[in-house]
Amino acid sequence: MDSAYPDVPARPLDVVVVGTGAIAESHARALRAAGRRVRVVAAVDPDAGRVEAFARAWDVPRSAGALADVLAEVPVGLVCLCTPPATHVELAEAALAVGASVVVEKPVALSLAQVDRLLAAEAASTGSVAVVSQHRFGSGVRRLAAIVADGSLGRPLVATCLTQWYRPDAYFQVPWRGTFALEGGGPTMGHGIHQIDVLLSVLGEWAEVSAMAARGSRPTETEEVSVAAVRFSSGALASVVNSVVSARETSVLRFDLEHATVELEHLYGYGDEDFTVTPAPGHADAVAAAWSRAPQGVRSSHEAQFAEVLTALENGGVPPVALATSRDTLELVAATYRSAFTGRPVRRGEIGPDDAFALRMDGPGAVWPSAASTDR
Ligand SMILES: NC(=O)c1ccc[n+]([C@@H]2O[C@H](COP(=O)([O-])OP(=O)(O)OC[C@H]3O[C@@H](n4cnc5c(N)ncnc54)[C@H](O)[C@@H]3O)[C@@H](O)[C@H]2O)c1
Repeated sequence: MDSAYPDVPARPLDVVVVGTGAIAESHARALRAAGRRVRVVAAVDPDAGRVEAFARAWDVPRSAGALADVLAEVPVGLVCLCTPPATHVELAEAALAVGASVVVEKPVALSLAQVDRLLAAEAASTGSVAVVSQHRFGSGVRRLAAIVADGSLGRPLVATCLTQWYRPDAYFQVPWRGTFALEGGGPTMGHGIHQIDVLLSVLGEWAEVSAMAARGSRPTETEEVSVAAVRFSSGALASVVNSVVSARETSVLRFDLEHATVELEHLYGYGDEDFTVTPAPGHADAVAAAWSRAPQGVRSSHEAQFAEVLTALENGGVPPVALATSRDTLELVAATYRSAFTGRPVRRGEIGPDDAFALRMDGPGAVWPSAASTDR
């Protein structure tokens, strides 16, 4: 790096934004915030009106209907995938095949089998895949993960992970939403996955899950609520609730550790002010000292994650959240569905490559228990 600006690489990274719908705005804002570290060279969407409007709004010099056309014509360093979940793996493979890196929206893929296919493509490429999980990157969660990992708050004992959101019927009119085939699942896969991913970033390896799921008041084939009990390898337990039918929306993570309770309540993004820390008796000074460490003052956002991704790419490192790390989260999601639809607990590693739940989140087909029946 021989730039006059210490934070600016000598050559900006050439970026393509693929899919110019709702979440593409967050990518565009994050890329603009990265300043001279990046140059957005093209936007891609089969919807010509949408891609042209996006290119105009964000000063992107080229628009196209298909990623393959752009990859064939210009050198590309990074491809941002903001398309529906069913398209992620094929588009990421195309980018990796020309040596480009990928930032892909959650959920990275529809199934564990698809993630494993993508891991193989990543291993064969000079590029890499990072999965968007912007709530890992606020300073509060990063600080919490660090001080839990170094034991400053004692052993984690029990946690709560609530994603209770509200989506009206109209939300599901978009063809890919509310289906296992195209979205991969309901709120466990599409909404709660953010908080579940943060839960794992703080508590580490999960060991076993028992879950239930239900549907019935939204025009979906997927669940609209799920409830899971998770045991972690550390011995900690967590309860996880995912919903798209909750009129008072909230996103909550609560961790009870030996020396403190740490709570985060927000909706679609948080800052340091959204945390409450309560020390256990006798631990006030040590907990306050741990909680005052760096980092501080960074809101969870695509900007925060992109800053880390770009630093890793500029330094030849693995950009976060690495695909292999994301697989852990998707495995817990798959295990949640398997437990809900089979009525049995599922251990980490139990879903092998030939398991129906490795191929689709509803396995051989969702089994919805009737309210009155327990003998599935
Ligand atoms: N990180 C977050 O907080 C967050 C929030 C919302 C959505 N998402 C995720 O972002 C992704 C997109 O969601 P959205 O709400 O922006 O969807 P959207 O429907 O608003 O936009 C998707 C766009 O992709 C385009 N598209 C479809 N196939 C394409 C292809 N092969 N090549 C190029 N463009 C293609 C569509 O025409 C559409 O314009 C999903 O995976 C979703 O789960 C993430």
